[in-house]
Amino acid sequence: MRGLKGKIAVVTGGSRGIGRAIVERLTEEGVSVLFCGRNGKAGSQALEELKAKYGGQAAFIAADMEDKDTPAKLFAKVKEVYGEPDFLVNNAFPFTAKGIDATYEDWVHTFMAGPAAYARMIAEFAVSRTKKEGAIVCVSSISGHIAQPRRWTYNAAKGAVKQLIRCAALDLAPAIRVNCISPGWVKTDEVLKATPKKSWESTPQAWKEYHLMQRLQEPEEIASATAFLLSDDACAVTGHDLFADSGYLAMGPEGLGKTASFAGSE
Ligand SMILES: NC(=O)c1ccc[n+]([C@@H]2O[C@H](COP(=O)([O-])OP(=O)(O)OC[C@H]3O[C@@H](n4cnc5c(N)ncnc54)[C@H](OP(=O)(O)O)[C@@H]3O)[C@@H](O)[C@H]2O)c1
Repeated sequence: MRGLKGKIAVVTGGSRGIGRAIVERLTEEGVSVLFCGRNGKAGSQALEELKAKYGGQAAFIAADMEDKDTPAKLFAKVKEVYGEPDFLVNNAFPFTAKGIDATYEDWVHTFMAGPAAYARMIAEFAVSRTKKEGAIVCVSSISGHIAQPRRWTYNAAKGAVKQLIRCAALDLAPAIRVNCISPGWVKTDEVLKATPKKSWESTPQAWKEYHLMQRLQEPEEIASATAFLLSDDACAVTGHDLFADSGYLAMGPEGLGKTASFAGSE
């Protein structure tokens, strides 16, 4: 993809799952990446594996996105290691799934480590650099678009991401593009935990059929859509929510049409 090689990126939550696939893809494209995660051991191990595969183009720092000082800490670190970043990927997000039972603490955690952390990172990115151009991708979700059972916290917080990127795209234009991406059900630890036998083989058929493509998604598929949005190939795209969801959001209440019929006429 055009405009990635030689650039510098910060990725939040890059030690596992979608974030890790994004770090790998960017590294592969010749981007130097600083990524974070709360668990220092898991992050350092991910870094070692990456370095073995791609060489010295990635760095890790242990940090919690809910902490007040994390945005400043991440940007100070990336400048120290690689220089001023060109890209930001806001990926880490709490999976707090609570409904009417959500406590005050659940709401504070979901929003402060979720959309508020995304917003604080965008602001820090915009003010902490002298570079003019830049691109930002925030990982949102199909959950920001639809109702799901007992998921007030997660879905409300993902819905907030959609509005955040529009406002940020407006204020930071024309130099910095700000977009988000809405994946469907992706094969990561969180989804694996929910399978009946904690294995991909036990993935219910119904989950696959939530998607037009009738399968769960791979983290690498979200990583390629992210790389595209950061690249110069997406130079006309800003304030946009890319549905990288294998057709989840295109599906209507009739699902795959197994029980639907339509008389039709000429
Ligand atoms: N999986 C899906 O089906 C799916 C679908 C739609 C959208 N998404 C979105 O995609 C993004 C990634 O999801 P995922 O499934 O890849 O998650 P994951 O497998 O649980 O990985 C999350 C990554 O973020 C880090 N992280 C989590 N909370 C953090 C915090 N407070 N501060 C710093 N790092 C943190 C984790 O490391 P530590 O645990 O060490 O902190 C890990 O590296 C999220 O925004 C999620 O909402 C996922």
